[in-house]
Amino acid sequence: MSSGGDCPGINATIRGVGKAAMTYGMEVLGILEGFHGLMYNDYIELDDRKLSGLLTLGGTILGTSREKPFKKKEGDVIADKPQLIKQNVAKMRLDCLVCIGGNGTQKTASQLSEIGLNVIGIPKTIDNDVWGTDVTFGFDTAVNIATDAIDRLHSTANSHKRVMVIELMGHNAGWLTLYAGVAGGGDVILIPELDYSIERVNEVLIERCRKGKPYSIVVIAEGIKSKKDGVRAGAYIAEQIEKGTNIETRVTVPGYMLRGGSPSPVDRILATRMGTYAAQLIHDHQFGTMVAIHNNEMSSVPLKETGGKTRLVPPDHFLIKKAKRIGIFFGQ
Ligand code: F6P
Repeated sequence: MSSGGDCPGINATIRGVGKAAMTYGMEVLGILEGFHGLMYNDYIELDDRKLSGLLTLGGTILGTSREKPFKKKEGDVIADKPQLIKQNVAKMRLDCLVCIGGNGTQKTASQLSEIGLNVIGIPKTIDNDVWGTDVTFGFDTAVNIATDAIDRLHSTANSHKRVMVIELMGHNAGWLTLYAGVAGGGDVILIPELDYSIERVNEVLIERCRKGKPYSIVVIAEGIKSKKDGVRAGAYIAEQIEKGTNIETRVTVPGYMLRGGSPSPVDRILATRMGTYAAQLIHDHQFGTMVAIHNNEMSSVPLKETGGKTRLVPPDHFLIKKAKRIGIFFGQ
């Protein structure tokens, strides 16, 4: 099952879990549209043919949803969603449920494990913010797409002598902005984990002009603090820069392009490693765990330790330190 926002590499993971599970003699079902499918018994059988051709395919063949069965919301028609899921899992005769998803999904996976289901989580998200693993698949592809977008801003910024602000996804985490910002040669990088002063940002941009640098690239995370309610971070920062510096400023928001399309080779490999490792965990009855990667080694962490926690960029992260050394400005 895949749940939450999609990202490149989910299909490669489904293929990895499914093909490896079959080699252990298991039967594989694909639950449709996340936890929604578990409530409505919506699933397909995944045989060898259905698991072919998935490695390079973007999105998820199973569909996804943001359904959170442990969260009550207005208009709910089902009184006790977790109990219904428990009954359906028994009806489908599932020995284990594999939940491919980000933080929210891993939290639900942990809660399902607590009420007695056999669950294994696999972390996915372009945000790279799942607690308990060094990296999630989807992140590398998004860094590639974002870096390409930033690369393309340099020439047009130079032609027009403008400041180019680019706003990147990441929810409350700055991983994508930090990595793509450094890889794309951003001059200013703003992430939610670090406070910034717009006055200081403007001073730095004016100083760059004085030094004869005709244009600047400002890479910012959608989740930065101190922005105007209801206004996107990119639009807000661009307005503040133009007002404060008098330099013509434009804003670009790649948005969902960062999540679309085929996974990078790095993500295809990570998804395959994570998927096949999940099948091994099922075989070994290591339930209540999430697949993880530490120092490039596959491992697992208890779901009850990961659920509900977010992995943010530490302010003393090595890449921030290196980037500061070459003059990239982080807002303070
Ligand atoms: O978690 C992945 C992500 O793409 C975030 O970067 C972004 O804030 C969010 O999902 C967008 O959510 P939705 O798909 O619900 O619009």
